[in-house]
Amino acid sequence: MDTFRILGGQRLAGRIAVNGAKNAALPVLTTCLMTRQPCCFHGLPLLRDVQTQVKILNTLGIETRWQGRSVHTRLRDDYNSTAPYELLKTMRAGVCVLGPLLASRGQARVSLPGGCVIGERPIDLHLRGLEALGAEIDIEHGYVQATAPIGGLRGAEIYLGGTWGSSVTATHNVMCAAACARGRTVIECAACEPEVVDVANCLNAMGARISGAGSPRIIIDGVRRLTGADWKVIPDRIEAATFVVLAAITRSALTVTNCRPDHMLAFIHVMRQMGIDITVRGRRLEVAPSKRPRACEVVTLPYPAFPTDCQAQVMALACLADGASVITERIYPDRFMHAAELKRMGATISIANAQAVIQGVRNLEGAEIMASDLRASAALVLAGLAAKGETLLHRIYHIDRGYERIEERLRRLGARIERIPTPA
Ligand code: EPU
Repeated sequence: MDTFRILGGQRLAGRIAVNGAKNAALPVLTTCLMTRQPCCFHGLPLLRDVQTQVKILNTLGIETRWQGRSVHTRLRDDYNSTAPYELLKTMRAGVCVLGPLLASRGQARVSLPGGCVIGERPIDLHLRGLEALGAEIDIEHGYVQATAPIGGLRGAEIYLGGTWGSSVTATHNVMCAAACARGRTVIECAACEPEVVDVANCLNAMGARISGAGSPRIIIDGVRRLTGADWKVIPDRIEAATFVVLAAITRSALTVTNCRPDHMLAFIHVMRQMGIDITVRGRRLEVAPSKRPRACEVVTLPYPAFPTDCQAQVMALACLADGASVITERIYPDRFMHAAELKRMGATISIANAQAVIQGVRNLEGAEIMASDLRASAALVLAGLAAKGETLLHRIYHIDRGYERIEERLRRLGARIERIPTPA
């Protein structure tokens, strides 16, 4: 398990380009299961999770060939419809093969995803949506066994809301299954995230008839078959936001390129409330060097509101703000693992009932800390870069799941960060 050694307090400068969105790439890749024709997906981030998704597709009879940031896929055979635990235990997004498999092969056996450090993450909405389309679902030995009825899935009106609002990957699964069902499906309380829209656009380019993606009501008129895909995934709005916080927390001037500011409005709004000077220029965000940020009040909610995947990074910034910030988690009430580590660096944070109160301090201090999950690791790297002295961040394999060669890209901006490999 590698460690980052970070020497904080450096001013950074320059440009940093955003890669393709992990959370778009993972579901988009699964659309190749829905066609017998070859597909090509471009602009993929070279991340462990994306490689895991490709391995899952390989076990499902898809041949793949990488070419730079593109992957070419071809159906070799459709004998196996089981997505195994060995792969799904490392990455929950493997569950995105459920809807595509059911649509194309009439059956799917997918391991229930394992536990998750950011809190309970059930898949009841996925199953409820697929059942509404006529699928028979059994849970056996830790696997979801889904079978389409004789004659295939049929369109239905489905309310896909849960206690915590909409679900991104449940919307994906139901939308994919409905794309090839008989008749019309209406999904109410669909997730509106740009990553859902990216999948819908990709499916439409393959011949599907989906409208309303990006709104809470998605209408899908089923088609008999889909053609191949040639698709480029959207830029990663969470990576872009992480880089904006990087500029703000190190009080540096940075330009974040290849991003979609229109996907980041709630985040940009919060940054501006904190006094961060951001200029939007087309696909670029220019962040001017800022003074000490103001405190913020943030509530995470489904898109288009403030994303839970940016909560940890903004908490790191709030640790250094002038005044008391309040951050409320409305997606994953337990997603505050980073707070304890930030406190080891001198932050003042108290947490109760899914709410963190952060009393800003003037400085953080380098310390030996531990990454617990992907976004927590990003927040701790940011804190380390702003802190006085040396930080040793352990268990950084988490950050490799979502940020490609992050230390090399940060070094190009002037950051002092190095990877210390674990002795073999
Ligand atoms: N939920 C249910 N039942 C379900 C599904 C979800 O109650 O069947 C609840 C969840 O427990 C949560 C809320 O609904 O409280 C939203 O979860 P959602 O299903 O939208 O999350 P997801 O689709 O599993 C995606 C991202 C996450 C991101 C969430 C929320 C992918 C591959 N993952 O997960 O990304 O946090 O949406 O925006 O798209 C990350 O990148 O670090 C990450 C965790």
